[in-house]
Amino acid sequence: MQTSLPLVSDEPRYPLDEQRIVLFQGDCLDFLRDCPDETMQLVVTSPPYNIGKEYERRTGLDDYVAQQAEVIEHCVRVLKNTGSLCWQVGNYVKDGCVVPLDSLLYPVFVSQGLKLRNRIIWHFEHGLHCARRFSGRYEAIVWYTKSDDYVFNLDPVRVPQKYPGKKHFKGPNAGQYSCNPLGKNPGDLWIIPNVKSNHVEKTQHPCQFPVELIERLVLSLTNENDWVFDPFLGSGTSIIAAIKHNRRGAGAEVFSDYVTLAQDRIRREMEGTLKTRPMGQPVFDPVSTHNRLAKSPWDTTQASLIIPGEESK
Ligand SMILES: C[S@@+](CC[C@H](N)C(=O)[O-])C[C@H]1O[C@@H](n2cnc3c(N)ncnc32)[C@H](O)[C@@H]1O
Repeated sequence: MQTSLPLVSDEPRYPLDEQRIVLFQGDCLDFLRDCPDETMQLVVTSPPYNIGKEYERRTGLDDYVAQQAEVIEHCVRVLKNTGSLCWQVGNYVKDGCVVPLDSLLYPVFVSQGLKLRNRIIWHFEHGLHCARRFSGRYEAIVWYTKSDDYVFNLDPVRVPQKYPGKKHFKGPNAGQYSCNPLGKNPGDLWIIPNVKSNHVEKTQHPCQFPVELIERLVLSLTNENDWVFDPFLGSGTSIIAAIKHNRRGAGAEVFSDYVTLAQDRIRREMEGTLKTRPMGQPVFDPVSTHNRLAKSPWDTTQASLIIPGEESK
């Protein structure tokens, strides 16, 4: 493990062989153009959605797709033949009309010869409240592979079964436990809290990945010492998830404030002082933990709202 501060550079430095962390300050295309073919085992990112966030300039949808296509084309070139590309996207919204970005970009991925393996729904509880449509509470992670010979490690990401005590009731294994003791396949609906104000990982970056979301992809789609690359690195989450599991991490980020933030988080991860939400921790349930704010002041059937002495009126 590299122990000095992660390399921050505005010049891509190749070969990457001697390094474990590369933090490139600049446009991802400048990093990608010089990156050798078939270097990365996993490209994982959340690109700008073209919705006018502080780090992006809103443009026409055709321009947006063309810009994304250029980045995607390079990402596919630098991806190993056994590698995976995961693009985490939500919706582009204009005049109240929703365009799902993974659908918009699907032809781009397919034209690059990629094969779609899963469209993972990432469900979370917190976000803007919509007045004229249902509030958005999921985004998609589209997982593509470069070939049919791809790395997929299910065991490190298995989750507990609902009924681990279940047994075969007939056949040659009757009476034996029917579940895999390592847990079950986590499926393609992932319920993981998004990083909002009281999340332990919250920084000033407006759109952080939760680290556990990327850890699951790193563990299942790469092996130790493989390279994980994020072209739109933001606060450094993809590199943090990579080095947590003894992979190597590279990323590009155009804004210097976010590069500084990413560098600080990566340094704290290396020192063991970065707080992250552990993988597999159940989602906080205010009702079962009897949080007083979970009691509705308008629901008079709730015992706590009955005024003593007035119960029979
Ligand atoms: C949706 S955010 C990604 C946040 C990241 N997933 C995290 O966990 O912090 C997109 C990031 O891409 C950066 N960005 C936008 N265009 C870029 C480009 N051409 N090259 C590199 N970074 C870029 C933005 O500054 C922003 O931080």
